[in-house]
Amino acid sequence: MNLNPPLVIASGPGGSGEYLRLINPKYVGAYTLKTITLNPKPGNKTKRMENLENYIINSIGLENPGIEYVISNIDKFVLKETKTILSLGGDSKDEYIKIAEKIAPHAKKFEAIEFNFSCPNVKKGGLSILSDLNEWQEILENVRKILPDSFLMAKLSIEGNFVEILSRKVKEFGWNGLTLINCVRGLLIKDGKIVTGGLSGPILKPIALRAIYEVRKVLKDIYIIASGGIYTKKDVDDFLLVGTNAISIGSALFKDPQVVEELGKYLKGVKR
Ligand SMILES: Cc1cc2nc3c(=O)[nH]c(=O)nc-3n(C[C@H](O)[C@H](O)[C@H](O)COP(=O)(O)O)c2cc1C
Repeated sequence: MNLNPPLVIASGPGGSGEYLRLINPKYVGAYTLKTITLNPKPGNKTKRMENLENYIINSIGLENPGIEYVISNIDKFVLKETKTILSLGGDSKDEYIKIAEKIAPHAKKFEAIEFNFSCPNVKKGGLSILSDLNEWQEILENVRKILPDSFLMAKLSIEGNFVEILSRKVKEFGWNGLTLINCVRGLLIKDGKIVTGGLSGPILKPIALRAIYEVRKVLKDIYIIASGGIYTKKDVDDFLLVGTNAISIGSALFKDPQVVEELGKYLKGVKR
């Protein structure tokens, strides 16, 4: 993948392209759409996001209209202003395979297809899909066969298994890249009540840096998009130093969408 600048909008916070009204597409190398699943999901009840100084905790619940809707309205989902990365998720092995089959005739329209592997495996009591390596390998193997020409990205969580082990499998089954990392499970006490959700924002940065550092040690030539607490030029420098190919902006969009322009200008012309 050749992105200029090597700056990506992360899946979720950017919705399905809405931020292009606020930011100059010239500074967006690629825009990842929020994760789409086989069946539509209504998401969780509000309030779904708590915004604190160093972190956000969200429980959106993967709200999305489902793959059939996307296919019927494909021109709305393929962005005109910049390259589009489609993000797909599932509740089970079968769902990942079925959604790949459904998108296959349209796959060429997307710069890359990212599989969000942070979804709970509903058939295994809600544990991460990454916790059963055998089953997960079958997803990697089947999806690669179904989408032979796509630039396939695996978005990994640090929960479920060590990223070094998972990343080797991603490479072994012929996938092209990794997005590291996704939200980490968190809990907040608010007014004496428990709020659970996925953590994102500055608090994730050291965890994401370490994940990429460890993966780069074992895999020299896989494309890596960094995700986790990227807000400033120093953050960009740090992620480049550990071997990142492209950085992604997620929670920082909520603070100030102009960060995309600032970091995009900084990265323009940087070849990774
Ligand atoms: C509100 C919200 C919604 C998200 N939705 C998705 C999603 O649909 N798919 C996905 O792969 N990641 C999703 N994420 C995770 C982000 O893409 C990103 O990996 C994570 O937030 C860490 O990066 P950040 O600290 O820059 O936000 C979501 C994050 C937030 C805050």
